[in-house]
This record gives sequence, C-alpha cells and structure tokens, in this order.
Amino acid sequence: VDKRGGTLPIVKKIHDLSTPCLVLDLDRFEANLEKMSRFTRQRNIALRPHAKTHKCVNIARRQLQQGAVGICAATIAEAEVMVRGGIRGLLITGEMIGEPKISRLMRLVSEAPDTMAVVDDVSNVEDLQRAAGRAEIQLTLLIDLDIGQNRTGVQPGEPALQLARAIAHSKNLQLKGICAYAGHAAHVVGFEARRAASRRALEQALGTRELLVKHGHRVDILSGASTGTYNIDPDIEGLTEMQSGSYVFMDVEYRRIGGASGPVYEDFTPALCVLATVIHRSGPKAIVDAGIKALATDRGFGPEVLGMADVTYEFAGDEHGRLTANDKSIRLGDRLRLVIPHCDPTVNLYDRFFCVRGEMVEDEWPIMERAGGSTYF
Ligand SMILES: Cc1ncc(COP(=O)(O)O)c(C=O)c1O
Repeated sequence: VDKRGGTLPIVKKIHDLSTPCLVLDLDRFEANLEKMSRFTRQRNIALRPHAKTHKCVNIARRQLQQGAVGICAATIAEAEVMVRGGIRGLLITGEMIGEPKISRLMRLVSEAPDTMAVVDDVSNVEDLQRAAGRAEIQLTLLIDLDIGQNRTGVQPGEPALQLARAIAHSKNLQLKGICAYAGHAAHVVGFEARRAASRRALEQALGTRELLVKHGHRVDILSGASTGTYNIDPDIEGLTEMQSGSYVFMDVEYRRIGGASGPVYEDFTPALCVLATVIHRSGPKAIVDAGIKALATDRGFGPEVLGMADVTYEFAGDEHGRLTANDKSIRLGDRLRLVIPHCDPTVNLYDRFFCVRGEMVEDEWPIMERAGGSTYF
C-alpha cells in the first residue's frame, strides 16, 4: 500500500504518469512564489493569496513560508480544509448566507479565531451577530464592497457606512476593514487600460474608507487586487493587502492580457500544465487524450502547447483535442504539456497535482474540496 492508500506503484518519473493529469513544475512554481514575495516585500504591501486557485494546503503552506500574512478562501469548505491543515489568517471572500454556512463559520472561528468573513447586507449582520452571540465568539468582518464587478458587495459610500454602523452595534462582531476585489479589472487587455480600470474601481474603495474612518470606524485592512493588477494596485495609497491567486500557476487567459512591457503577460511563468499523450497521428493532424473533460472550457479558447508556439489546439470532444501539427517532431505516444486556458476551474477537475522537477515526480499534493460541499466537522 503506497502513501496515497492505494496499491499502485508510486510514480517516479513523468514518463510513468497516466494522462491526462495535472503536472506542477516545481522550479517554475517556486520562481513564481519568490517573485511575488519579493515584489510585495519591496512594495511594502501584504499578501493574502487566494486559495480558490489551488485548493491545496501544501501550496498555502508554501505561500505562508514565503511571507504571506494569511490565505483567502472563496467558500466555507475551502476555509475548513485550510484550517484543518494548520493554515491560519484566513479571509473568506464569499458571503456566508443561510444557517448551514453560518453554523460552519461559527465552528471554524471557534477553532481559528483569526478567521475573517465578509458581509454586504444588514440582515446578514443580524444573522451573524445572533449566531456569534450564541456561540460566544467574536467574529471579525470586512465589508465586501462592490467597486464595479456587479457581483456581491454593498455599494460604496453611504450604504457601506450603514453597514459599518450595524456591525458597530453588534456585540460579537468586529469591523476590521474593507474587501474590494475588482474582478472586472483583472483581465482588461493592455497594461494602461487595466491600470485605468483598476484605479477607477479602487478609488471608490478609498472614498468609502475615508467616509468610514471619518465616522469613527476601523479600517485597518483594505484588501483587493488580482494577478492582473498586482503591479498596479500597490501604487494606490491605502490598499493594505493583495489577494492575487493565479500567479502561482498562470494560464493562457492571463498571458493574453499583456504585460507592462509587451503583448504577452510574462511576469509569472506557466507552472501548471495538463500532461497529455498523442494518441493519433496522421498528416498534419495529431490527437491528444485531453479534451473537454480535462480542461475547463469557460473561456472559449483551448490550451497552448508548452514550447511549441506554432501548434494550435482545438477541442475535439470529451476525451480528445486536435492539434494542427505541421511540426513533424510530434510523434505518436509523445507527452505534451498543455498550458491551461483558465487555471481555477481546471484545477477543480482533478484530485491531485503531480509535482515535477525536471523529469522526476517529486511529490503528489491533494486538491481538496473541489465541489465545496461537504464538511470536515
Ligand atoms: C475575491 C477574489 N479575490 C482574488 C481573486 C484572485 O484573482 P486572480 O486569480 O486573478 O489573481 C479572485 C479570483 O477570482 C477572487 O474572486
């Protein structure tokens, strides 16, 4: 029985992996971690990276070792997995609405009291106060602000101030700041256009912060930013921490937005790939065993083949991808690394990362709570 509890031989080399599978290139991954860590240190801004990208305790641990102040989670299930894995400093960026999530949050905060949640509605403040009072715990909150994404979040200005007042009147709740994620700015193509979009969004957060502080509320934390705006948002005075997530892996969608100095965003290196095998070869066509089931298709474009710029991929069914491969070097049985179109939902399709260095598989890291449903309690 191997360390995974299975009876299969432990894989040692990439060559031994069954495809399709996720391979994480540790050298590239570590370079991405180090680059973001160095950058945030130099810019004197905190990093609380988002675990929605990886859903992996091993990766969260590495991020904390590199100086992150904590970890963001999108769901209560992700947060539970992190806490059970010893991770602290969690910020849950999704609203906790309804009894099942609220009671799980209370249990989580009993175990990890520094966990923070977000709120955007006065009735939810009341529900959280009732539950926190009953559980006899103190719950730390950030106001989730809608700064243009039109998803969750209270409107900036007066509505946010009213929410702050409601929190201030709640004995078991403590306001610590504002969560202002501008998802609509993250993938704006072109550095200057992205900078303008992000600035427009975050200015609303700064205005609200001022208003709250003027009325005596605490705003120690102003949390926001993405991988697309990591080198834009620290210029905005008042942002205290960044929640970037995708920088650890990178994906085609991010490569296409353009960087500060060129048409391809190359600040971080593609570290995560789907490993695929060429299962058919004829004429200019090569078919790989990674199709719709192996790659999230939400972006409408396929993966890039790592190191083969002139090869194009198109989805050809559940288990198939078609490469237009004028490249004669592609042969039946070859293993190709596909740079993922959109990393978060692709990770969500798999159970584990195979962590590779060179040709060797060094480790396997589990991807947890993919559906976000069950509880660890
Ligand atoms: C609330 C929130 N914060 C941070 C992120 C991380 O963004 P990225 O992966 O683009 O860096 C996301 C991603 O969707 C998000 O929803």
